Amino acid sequence: MLQKAYPYYLANEAVFANKDLVVTDKYSGEVAAHVAIADAKIIDSAIDWALLAEKPMAKLPPYRRQDVLNHCVKRFHERFEELAESLCIEAGKPIHDSRGEVTRLIDTFRVAAEESVRINGEIINLEISKNTRGYRGYVKRVPVGACSFISPFNFPLNLAAHKVAPAIASGCPFVLKPASRTPIGALIIAEVLAETDLPKGAFSVLPCHREGADLFTVDDRFKLLSFTGSPAVGWDLKARAGRKKVVLELGGNAACVIDENTDLDDAVQRLIFGAFYQSGQSCIGVQRIYGHKSLYEELKQRLVERTRKLKKGDPKEEGTFIGPMISEGEAKRLQGWVNEAIKDGATLLCGGGRDGAMLDPTLLENVPHECSVVQQEAFGPVAVLEPFDDYDEVLERVNNSAFGLQAGIFTKDLYRAQKAWDTLEVGGVVIGDVPSWRVDNMPYGGVKDSGLGREGVRWAIADMTEERLMVVREIGD
Ligand code: SIN
Repeated sequence: MLQKAYPYYLANEAVFANKDLVVTDKYSGEVAAHVAIADAKIIDSAIDWALLAEKPMAKLPPYRRQDVLNHCVKRFHERFEELAESLCIEAGKPIHDSRGEVTRLIDTFRVAAEESVRINGEIINLEISKNTRGYRGYVKRVPVGACSFISPFNFPLNLAAHKVAPAIASGCPFVLKPASRTPIGALIIAEVLAETDLPKGAFSVLPCHREGADLFTVDDRFKLLSFTGSPAVGWDLKARAGRKKVVLELGGNAACVIDENTDLDDAVQRLIFGAFYQSGQSCIGVQRIYGHKSLYEELKQRLVERTRKLKKGDPKEEGTFIGPMISEGEAKRLQGWVNEAIKDGATLLCGGGRDGAMLDPTLLENVPHECSVVQQEAFGPVAVLEPFDDYDEVLERVNNSAFGLQAGIFTKDLYRAQKAWDTLEVGGVVIGDVPSWRVDNMPYGGVKDSGLGREGVRWAIADMTEERLMVVREIGD
C-alpha cells in the first residue's frame, strides 16, 4: 500500500511541506498520494548543505560507504513488494515489470557496494627521459563533490539508483530531482538512506516544479550534473550547465536486425519483449525491426499474431503485459505519429487504437523514412518493420538515425557480429538479443543525440571521481 503523504528530504531529513504535488494512479487516474514539493529556496539550501557535506563524505572510509549501500540492499529486499507496488501505481508499470525493476534496483546498489571498496589508483613511471630521472607519479581518485541529479519517469527507482548508488560509493553528496509524475520511488530510496549515518547534507531528494528546478542545471556550486530524460531537454541543460561536468542519458529509436538463419521462435519472443514491455517506454525499446528477406514474411506474420494476443489492462493484475503510457497526452502524441505514417503511405499491421492513456501495441510496415515513427524516439508501444537483402546496407540503415544508444543483431555469423560492432554508431551492440537488453554493471549510454558519457556503476563512479596526481622526486643519487 502507498502512504497517503510523502515528505521531501532536505539534508537527510524528512520534511512535510505545506505545498504538495498530487501523484496519480496512472491506470485509474485516481489520486494515489500527496508529495511535499520544494521551491527554489529549499533547493538552494539543499545545495548549501551538500557543500558542507563534501569534506565529511570524502573522508568517509570506503567500508563505511559500503555499509550504507549494503543497508539499502537489505531494506530494499525487505520492502520489495511495497516498492513494486509503488512503481505499478505511480508509473502504471505492469506488476511483473515492476518487480523486475526492484530486482535491478537491488543489483545496482549491490554492485555499488562492491565497487565502493575498489576505487583504486595507479603508480606511474615518470622516467621517460634523462631529465625526469628520479621522478615517480602516484594517482588516486577523489570525489568531485556535490552532484546534481535529474531522473526520469520510466524507471523511477533504478534510473535514480544509477546516480545515487555510485555517488555514495564515490563519496559525493547529491541533490536529486525525481520526475514530478513519479517521485515516490526516489522518496522511498531517501527514506532508507535516512536510516543510515551518512553525514548531514549528504543527500536531498526534492520533487519540484520546473520553475524551481533551474538551480539543478545552472548553479555553479554543483560539480557534476547527471540527467536522464528526453534529448531536447538534455541538450538544453548542457548548454546552460556552465563549468560542471555533464552526463546525459537520452533517448533513441533503437534498431534490431534479424539476419538470415535466425531461430524465429526465440527472436520473435525477444522482439515482443523489446518493443512492448512497459508499453515501450524505454530508451532502448525496439523501434525499428529489419528482417532478412528470406524470413521477413514469416517474421511479420508471427510478430503480428503475438502482438494481437498481448494482455492489456490493469497493471496491478498478474499477467498484464500492456499497461497505460505515462499520460493520455503521450498516448495521443504517439497515436498521432502512427496516423501521420498511415496517411503518408504506411501499412498498419496491427494496433493503432487507443483508450485514454492505453495505446494498443502497434506494428507498421512500408513506413516512409521521413515519418516521425522512424525518425524520432517513439517512447511507446510502436515498432516499424522493414525487409533487407544486404547485410552491409542494413547496417547503414541502422546508422541512418540521429540517435545512437544500443542496437540488437540476431546473427549466427561471428564475422557479421564483429562487423556490426565495428560499424554501428551506438554505445552498445547486443548480439543474439534485442537492443533493450541491459544489466546494471555494464557501461550504458549513447552517442549522437542519445547522450554523453556512460552510466553503469563503475563508469558513473569514474565520472563522480577525478584523478589527483602526486609527484615524488627522489632525493640524492
Ligand atoms: C532507459 O530507458 O534509458 C533505461 C533502460 C534500462 O535501464 O533498461
